[in-house]
Amino acid sequence: MKQAKIIGVGHYLPDNIVTNDDLSKLMDTSDKWIQERTGIKERRFIKEPYEQSTAIMGFEASKMAIDRAGIKPEDIDLIVFATMTPDYYFPGPGVIIQKLLGIGHVGAIDVRAQCSGFMYGLSIADQYIKTGMYKTVLLIGSETQSTALDLTTRGRGTATLFGDGAGAAIIQASEEEGKGILSTHLHSQGEFAEKLYMKTPGTGKTKFIYDGIEKDYDNIFGYMDGQLVFKNAVVRFPQAVMEELNANNLSLDDLDMFLPHQANLRISQFAQRTLKLRDDQIFNNIQKYGNTTAATIPILLSELWAEGRIKEGQVYVLAAFGSGFTWASALIKW
Ligand code: COA
Repeated sequence: MKQAKIIGVGHYLPDNIVTNDDLSKLMDTSDKWIQERTGIKERRFIKEPYEQSTAIMGFEASKMAIDRAGIKPEDIDLIVFATMTPDYYFPGPGVIIQKLLGIGHVGAIDVRAQCSGFMYGLSIADQYIKTGMYKTVLLIGSETQSTALDLTTRGRGTATLFGDGAGAAIIQASEEEGKGILSTHLHSQGEFAEKLYMKTPGTGKTKFIYDGIEKDYDNIFGYMDGQLVFKNAVVRFPQAVMEELNANNLSLDDLDMFLPHQANLRISQFAQRTLKLRDDQIFNNIQKYGNTTAATIPILLSELWAEGRIKEGQVYVLAAFGSGFTWASALIKW
């Protein structure tokens, strides 16, 4: 059976930096509150006239990943695009990327697993490569959160957490035994579907567009039970790391780096303490970008790649948790 290896990663972030102080001019919040609760100092928002979008940021990240992988767009034989903020209600952004990159008539899969989307996509890419069906997969996680946030005091519980950005990876078949993506695990818990969700646009139990929709607050902005999300995330992250290590007969001593989805620095720190990881075994960048949902993990990977910190033979666990609830992980040996 083939192994699947990440051979290039890239990312893209809008230039427009929005600090906590900038947000405190729009709503009743403060740099102190946001940093104490989340660790976030600033995030990036696309801005009017909105020349960027989820697909366009994904395209920019893809170009960097393709370049670093040393391949050509025509080498890609499957596109997997993870996002919860697509450009259109339909079609999904996978086909827009195909058009922008000028790739031939390959398949384009859109993944709806929110913060876990990139990890779900990594597992999909891994399976297609392992079975031999595809050789080179482009995987993208990209999000435009800013245009759907309530940037008033009413929305401060969620609006202060999220940011825009994109990351991408090229995953390719390899003959090298024992290297690459060694395992992935996917989980979901639908009983909590409405504990972190956005009802509209949607077709369920509400008319898609009707007069007065603005009156139904939870319909037009996302709803989050923040404390429930927090309590579940701090349990699921350590569980996911141990599930990956156990599946490969490895222990925490073998782990070079844990890359957690960037939901909240306090969640990452809680997981770090639970697992007793050293500071150099975990990497966070939420301070600069906020929570970019499906894009956080490929952005982390791309920054590490740029800094030359990913070394051959190192063992990484990547894990995400989010709306659904969904959570997913992978163990990679570089
Ligand atoms: N600025 C200032 N005050 C704020 C605020 C903000 N941005 N947001 C909420 N508050 C206020 C609340 O109104 C509340 O005030 P009250 O006590 O007068 O009613 C108080 O702060 C505490 O609110 P609460 O929601 O209980 O705060 P918390 O300690 O649970 O922290 C989160 C809120 C969102 C930071 C935290 O629950 C969290 O991080 N959860 C996980 C979220 C997450 O990761 N989501 C993405 C999933 S992938």
